[in-house]
Amino acid sequence: MAETVVKITNLVKRYKELIALDNFSLEIQKGEVFGLLGPNGSGKTTTINCLLTLLSYDNGEIELFGEKMTSKRSDLKARIGVVPQQVAVFEELTVYDNIDFFCGLYIKDKETRKKYVEEAIEFVGLQEFKKFYPKKLSGGLLRRLNIACGIAHKPELIIFDEPTVAVDPQSRNRILEGISRLNEQGATIIYTTHYMEEVEQLCSRILIMDHGKKVAIGTKDELKGMIKNTESVIVNASDLEPAFIEKIRALNHVYDVSYHDDTLTIKCSGGKHNIVHVVDCFADNEVKYRQIYSILPTLNEVFLEITGKQLRDNE
Ligand SMILES: Nc1ncnc2c1ncn2[C@@H]1O[C@H](COP(=O)(O)OP(=O)(O)O)[C@@H](O)[C@H]1O
Ligand SMILES: [Mg+2]
Repeated sequence: MAETVVKITNLVKRYKELIALDNFSLEIQKGEVFGLLGPNGSGKTTTINCLLTLLSYDNGEIELFGEKMTSKRSDLKARIGVVPQQVAVFEELTVYDNIDFFCGLYIKDKETRKKYVEEAIEFVGLQEFKKFYPKKLSGGLLRRLNIACGIAHKPELIIFDEPTVAVDPQSRNRILEGISRLNEQGATIIYTTHYMEEVEQLCSRILIMDHGKKVAIGTKDELKGMIKNTESVIVNASDLEPAFIEKIRALNHVYDVSYHDDTLTIKCSGGKHNIVHVVDCFADNEVKYRQIYSILPTLNEVFLEITGKQLRDNE
C-alpha cells in the first residue's frame, strides 16, 4: 500500500476578511513529485506555511508521515526540507557556513554534517563559490544556495516554493534536473509554481488551485482529459468576412470561434485532426491565409475552461 506523506483535510486560513484557504484538502503519497499549480495569490505559500506550522490556521487538520503535525513536532520537521519562495540565507555567512548552519539544525554529528554539506554543495554545483558571501552571488547562484540550505540534511519530504522565479534559463534547468534527481534518490517532492510548463515537465501529479480552493487534480493527461477542448486551430488571416467565419463555426467538432488582431482561434473537441477540415474550408471558399497551425490543450486551457480565466493574466 502507498504511504501517505502529506494529508491536509479541510484547511481554512483567513487573513482578517480574506479567505486564503477555503476548505482545502490534499493527499500526497511517498515518492511523488507533486505539483501545486496556481496563479499568484491562489494560496500556495499559505498552504506550505500552514503545513510547516509557521502559520496558525482557522480550521482543518494536517498530518505528516501519518502523524498529526503541530508546532511542537520538531521530529517531523526534521524530516522535511524547505526551499522558501523568498531566498532566506545569512548575509554575514559564506556559502559553506550558510549550508552548515541549516544542516546543523538537524544533523549534530560533525563528521556526518561535513559530508552532507559537501554533498549539498556538489549537488547544486557551488564548489567554486564555497567561500563567497551571498552578496557576491548572481540571482541563479543565490537560488542554488537557497536549495542547498533546504536539502543538506537529506529530508524525506522536500518543498520547493516557486524556486525558478527570476532565474536565468541555465540555472532553471539545473534546478529542475536537481529536483528530479532528489526524487530518484527517494525524496517526496512538493513543487509550487505558476508556470504550467514546469509542472508538465516535472510532476507526476498536479493540483490546480485558485482562490484557496482545489480546481482540479490528476496527472497532466488526466487533467487535459477533463475538458472539452482537444485541439485549437489558429489561423493568421486578414479581413475575414463574418459569413465565412460562420462557415468555420458550423464545421464538425468546432465549439468556439473568435477573431481579433488578424487571428482566428477555432476551438475543437473530439480529437486532434481538425486542421484538415479548416484548410479545406478556406480552400473551398477561396479565402487566403498567411499561416495555420494547431495547438493541443495545455494546463492553461484546463484552468481557463474550469475558471474562465488565464492561469497567467499579468505576464
Ligand atoms: N500575511 C498576510 N496578510 C494578509 N494577506 C495575506 C498574507 N499573506 C498572504 N496573503 C493573501 O493571501 C492570499 C494567498 O497568498 P499566497 O498564499 O501567498 O499565494 P501564492 O503563494 O499562491 O501566490 C493572497 O490573496 C495574499 O494576498
Ligand atoms: Mg507564493
